[in-house]
Parts: sequence; C-alpha cells; structure tokens
Amino acid sequence: MTELISLQEEALQCTKCQLAKSRNKLVFGEGNENAGIFIIGEAPGYDEDRQGRPFVGKSGQLLDKILAACGFKRQEHIYIGNILKCRPPGNRNPSPEEAASCMPYLLKQIELVDPKIIILLGASALKHMIGPDLRITKIRGQWIEHNGRLFMPVYHPSALLRNPALKKETWEDYKNVVMKYRELVDKGHHCEYV
Ligand code: URA
Ligand code: URA
Repeated sequence: MTELISLQEEALQCTKCQLAKSRNKLVFGEGNENAGIFIIGEAPGYDEDRQGRPFVGKSGQLLDKILAACGFKRQEHIYIGNILKCRPPGNRNPSPEEAASCMPYLLKQIELVDPKIIILLGASALKHMIGPDLRITKIRGQWIEHNGRLFMPVYHPSALLRNPALKKETWEDYKNVVMKYRELVDKGHHCEYV
C-alpha cells in the first residue's frame, strides 16, 4: 500500500468538519503519484461528489482539453486534488474552518507526490495555498515561489466557462507551464503548439 493510499483511507474516515455528513462521496484526488505537475482546485462539485473523482464535470472537461493542448494527460503527467475533499452544499466557498480541517491532507499529498510545478486553479486555491492578500486577476500567469515550491496561479476553468474572453490569456499561462515543464521535468516533452 502506498502512503497516498493509506492517506486516502484516513481521509475516508475523516469527520473533522460538518461536510462529512452532507457529502455523497469523498473526492481524495488522483493521477500519477510521481507527477511533475500537481493541480489544485477548490472543492468537489455536484458531479465529483457523485463519482468520487476530481474534475469530472463541465470544468473538468474544459481542463482536460487545455491539458491535452499542452500534451499532458491526467494519468501520466498530472496529479489533481482540491482544497476540500468533500462538497460544500450548493458549491458555496469553503469556510475557514473547513479549509483548516482539510488542508493537512492536501499538504501531505503534495509532499508525497513532490511535484516540480503546482498549478493553482482560481481564487480559493490561491488564497489557501499562498495567502489571502493576492488577487487571481492580478497575479495569474506569474510564477510564485513559496515554501520551497513553484506555483502558477491561473483562472479556474469555471471562470473560463462563465467568461470565455479569459481563455486567451489563460492559454498564455499554460504555455508558460509547458516551457517550465521542459526546463524542470522533461526537456523532450512534446506539445504541438509550444
Ligand atoms: N471544481 C473544483 O474546484 N474541483 C473539482 O474537483 C471540480 C470542480
Ligand atoms: N474568480 C474566481 O473565483 N476564480 C477565477 O479563476 C477568476 C475569478
């Protein structure tokens, strides 16, 4: 049993916050346990809560398309998880207490996967991983070094679905990720657009 699997077993038993009662399935996270890229979202939505897997709804489908354009496959190049493992009712924002209870699981996942690059999807991931004072609209596309790790904040795919005009600058951010991936992980990484 890998350490990630035993951590998942532990999370499945978790009752540290009230979401354990209202959720349908816990969404631990998944992907390559040795991935060069770790992607962090906010929390499971309706589809994720049904299926127990991260980013399987509309946002996830858009994310998969963007990753494919970068030459990245979820199971090969990526590990993906959320700030919260359980769905907040009605997709409200994580409360500070929920985030505080749940973050240790994510921090341990990051330690175990030990990625070279961490992509922060949207305002919640940015706030909880880096700090509350940064604005996603201001900082997106800029590399951040924090606690010895390298982060790229980008718009959440749900923001792109609401406002497709944001796709153009977001694609520049992902192109940046591809170049950094070549620099830090695999210089032969194939991407037909970059
Ligand atoms: N949005 C997120 O932030 N995470 C998911 O897993 C799905 C949608
Ligand atoms: N607001 C958000 O919450 N996330 C984004 O990615 C953009 C705007």
